[in-house]
Amino acid sequence: MTLSTSIRNLYSLSNQLRSAQRSLFKTQMYSCVIPYPMTFLSVENLKVFYQTQGKQVHAVDDVSFSLENGESIAIAGESACGKSTLGLTIMRALQGNAIVSGEILFDDKSILKISEEEFTKTLRWKEISMIFQGSMNSLDPVFTIKQQFDEILKKHGYKGNHQKAILEAVSVVGLPISVLEKFPHELSGGMKQRVVISMALLLKPKLVIADEPTTALDVLVQAQIMSLIKRLKKEGIAVMLISHDLGIISEISEKVGIMYAGKIVEFGNLSDIYKNPKHPYTDALLKSVPKLKDGSDLVSLKGNPPDLVNPPEGCRFYDRCAHAMEKCKKEPPKIKTPSGYVLCWLYE
Ligand SMILES: Nc1ncnc2c1ncn2[C@@H]1O[C@H](COP(=O)(O)OP(=O)(O)OP(=O)(O)O)[C@@H](O)[C@H]1O
Ligand code: SF4
Ligand SMILES: [Mg+2]
Repeated sequence: MTLSTSIRNLYSLSNQLRSAQRSLFKTQMYSCVIPYPMTFLSVENLKVFYQTQGKQVHAVDDVSFSLENGESIAIAGESACGKSTLGLTIMRALQGNAIVSGEILFDDKSILKISEEEFTKTLRWKEISMIFQGSMNSLDPVFTIKQQFDEILKKHGYKGNHQKAILEAVSVVGLPISVLEKFPHELSGGMKQRVVISMALLLKPKLVIADEPTTALDVLVQAQIMSLIKRLKKEGIAVMLISHDLGIISEISEKVGIMYAGKIVEFGNLSDIYKNPKHPYTDALLKSVPKLKDGSDLVSLKGNPPDLVNPPEGCRFYDRCAHAMEKCKKEPPKIKTPSGYVLCWLYE
């Protein structure tokens, strides 16, 4: 056997092993079998700049993180820090004025490098889907919900039984079948949000990116939507939850990425970040979440994030940070933490 044949065989064997492990994971038997974790999603040095009126908006600037099989992530941060841009990049749904560099690997496939045709054929909606920010308000008013489901299946060349797939997706999110004959304006906000979630689940993806799925819903409906998202996770679907609300994300994800002005300034396990935040911005965000029982004062963060057209050199949180030092005017180092990293000079 030649060396190249051996390498090919080894490669094929490792792929078979990964695929067998994934099937086992889906049947929830993995804990006793998988000997080592496997990377499911890896984002490396991702940059997304928007070209607009002769300027570049540095919306996502050198972002890296990875998820193992079975993990979900929440991305949190203030408005305009680049959360949606990050989600849209993984979904390959950016507008034409975006310039993207870096690497995104999903199940070993390079999302940014494969052709548009292959991405649509193999990944979009089938493996990765997205509940777009505000999408419940963009349901087409002139078609019934069933017609809109049908359209998605047709667009993606779904070969199975359309009726069965639609009924299944609707029942997963707890909607009555009668909803299918209705027009969007006949549904409440909570029902519309369930419709868009079930649309994202229609082709049984492995990863669902949920961009602010509870915004503009009342607290009771928010709780229902969050328990629905938790159920999806139990069924083996990984969720990337994008939210500015740290209270909401605390219920869902194993990993958290705190975004500030285009950067993930802290990444790690949810419990580590909540119990022992390292980055001053994470700390400030957590202190701004109201807690019913503890009675401590809420702390509001003064000032505004920097302009992403001309972000300052060095730490982007400098102007608002109580611990800022002279050396913070230089690019902060990436310091390893027990479950991730923090970008801050305090730990150098
Ligand atoms: N198509 C675009 N062209 C130019 N700039 C854009 C475009 N889309 C987003 N931006 C800018 O990129 C930055 C990041 O936007 P993004 O929507 O990713 O933020 P976000 O964190 O999701 O905000 P929010 O919490 O308000 O939804 C913002 O400054 C925004 O104005
Ligand atoms: S690098 Fe400096 S300015 Fe930035 S968050 Fe850390 S201490 Fe604050
Ligand atoms: Mg957004």
